[in-house]
Amino acid sequence: MPDWTEHDSATYRDIAAIAVPRRHEMTTTIVSLVPFAADDRFRIVELGSGDGMLSAALLAAHPNATVLALDGSASMREAAAARLAPCGDRARVRAFDLASLDWWDLMHGADLVVSSLCLHHLNDAKKQYLYKAIADRLSARGALLVADLIEPLHPASRRLAANEWDRSAREQAGALEAPQLFTRFADAKWNQFRFPDPADRPSALFHHLVWLKHAGFEAVECFWMFAGHAVYGGFK
Ligand SMILES: C[S@@+](CC[C@H](N)C(=O)[O-])C[C@H]1O[C@@H](n2cnc3c(N)ncnc32)[C@H](O)[C@@H]1O
Repeated sequence: MPDWTEHDSATYRDIAAIAVPRRHEMTTTIVSLVPFAADDRFRIVELGSGDGMLSAALLAAHPNATVLALDGSASMREAAAARLAPCGDRARVRAFDLASLDWWDLMHGADLVVSSLCLHHLNDAKKQYLYKAIADRLSARGALLVADLIEPLHPASRRLAANEWDRSAREQAGALEAPQLFTRFADAKWNQFRFPDPADRPSALFHHLVWLKHAGFEAVECFWMFAGHAVYGGFK
């Protein structure tokens, strides 16, 4: 993974609770959008699953679902495997390289593809190819639900996103009585709207929605947005 290192994985695990704006709300938004009944049997693939928090939340809400959690970082896979161990064979964790194509067929027949804060590592063209690959492989009842950074299109919206992200991180650190986490967030220049990093290639929300529609998703929407982060997706 040229753009993401084990150092990034370690930093993210340390600060995620404050560095992700309204992380709990973002996660529960995705869980509440799952288009299946609580006890339905269905198959989930998570792209860039990190320490497995989203996969664990989905499996907790859907006791008959299974998940394949994919991530390129060995330490993240180790953390995800530990978190998902109580789910037994309902959860599998595997390595993948988001930018390659060799894992695409793992999504064949899946009912739900989810991803949180990972797809912005792809450039615009690769995101479009990936959306088409997902739409082509999902089951007929399938959905793609994504949480990610969104590219602001105007200096005013970039300023708003940057300010809201800093404010949210400071408030969340305060609520946890852990001001040192905000210091780490600031020292790591994690606010990409204030400190752009060439490894991060967020796209405009409007483009995501058009690409999803062109890929073959029928109902395409943005469901939630705050501090330059959005939950968006499409239903077949
Ligand atoms: C910001 S973390 C998000 C983790 C988790 N989804 C969450 O929301 O907490 C980004 C994750 O994407 C993974 N990642 C980044 N680039 C990747 C790539 N090219 N291939 C595979 N995984 C990648 C990282 O290892 C990391 O776990």
